[in-house]
Amino acid sequence: MKQRLSNVLVSGGAGYVGSALVPMLLDAGHRVTVLDLFIYGEQVFSDLSGHPKLRQIKGDIRDQKLVQAAVEKCDTIIHLACISNDPSYDLNPSLGRSINFESFKPFVEEAKRAGVRRFIYASSSSVYGVKNEDEVTEDLLLEPLTDYSKYKVLCEKELARARAPGFVACVVRPSTVCGYAPRQRFDVVVNIFTNQAFHNGKIRVTGGPQKRPNIHITDMCRVYLHILQQPDEKIDGKIWNAGDTNYSISELAEIVRDQFDGHIIIETAPTNDPRSYHVCGKKIFSDIGFELKFSIRDAVCELASALKAGKFEDPMNNPLYYNIKQMQRVNLK
Ligand SMILES: NC(=O)c1ccc[n+]([C@@H]2O[C@H](COP(=O)([O-])OP(=O)(O)OC[C@H]3O[C@@H](n4cnc5c(N)ncnc54)[C@H](O)[C@@H]3O)[C@@H](O)[C@H]2O)c1
Repeated sequence: MKQRLSNVLVSGGAGYVGSALVPMLLDAGHRVTVLDLFIYGEQVFSDLSGHPKLRQIKGDIRDQKLVQAAVEKCDTIIHLACISNDPSYDLNPSLGRSINFESFKPFVEEAKRAGVRRFIYASSSSVYGVKNEDEVTEDLLLEPLTDYSKYKVLCEKELARARAPGFVACVVRPSTVCGYAPRQRFDVVVNIFTNQAFHNGKIRVTGGPQKRPNIHITDMCRVYLHILQQPDEKIDGKIWNAGDTNYSISELAEIVRDQFDGHIIIETAPTNDPRSYHVCGKKIFSDIGFELKFSIRDAVCELASALKAGKFEDPMNNPLYYNIKQMQRVNLK
């Protein structure tokens, strides 16, 4: 397929997913603007400093003037900026609401005003809530259980309303992301287990049989790149799950255990979190031919190699790797 070259704004581009996505976008030839508060470190793109196609803007998506300047000359937006898990959101719900929801409509309007032609929104597979269906497909009723998920749903709806000729919009509902990235997260399940196995020789599982969909971080980024390459009519108004690797929590722990030499113990404790869902990732293949290339094992291997190579500073405790700890520390208003 012919490569479409774009001028892409990635909001939240210095976060976990963005830090892996931005280099891939640059490698593919796109111009990239990162708009981010850099909550998880200023040095995320130190390897790319001086890159002629990278513009980094430190600031808040709630700052209308800054957004106005950032979106200028961009034709595509990938909107990742977010208080991006339930515990961080619950630290300060009014802050979470202001970032995850209230800023969304003005942001989209500014994008339209500036002539942005494509808007890709990172929603979440948590919008479905708990489902009994064997396969959670995009057409099922959305029953979000938390405010974080509820506002993802409302933003999806807002974006659908904003669609217009010349303003193409689509939504991605990612599974939980795993693997190594320049801005690392050690607060998502596979990464937590890998960190525990490496440091403690022990993995702590709560529950076990619940299914939790995951996606390798490179595949997550490939989804966004793949969307950029599609013609407007293939993506406009579309919603896709991203991820099709549905293991139970116990199976994920076993996958992690099996990637380490030596004896890794798996300890299991009960949980009161009943969520178990089997996300179906087939629609993105049938609509635009996207296929996953990397396994959860690959993600664990790569993360374990990064741990062995000493790429992280104090990975069990450093707040930079844990959204809730860092949000507590920066005390954002
Ligand atoms: N990581 C996952 O497992 C996962 C799963 C499903 C959906 N998602 C979604 O994908 C997106 C990216 O997730 P992530 O894991 O990279 O999250 P992340 O927390 O690592 O990154 C979010 C980024 O947004 C920035 N940010 C937060 N508030 C901001 C504001 N007001 N103005 C500007 N920047 C701000 C932060 O500094 C951070 O760099 C999020 O929207 C998240 O909800 C992620």
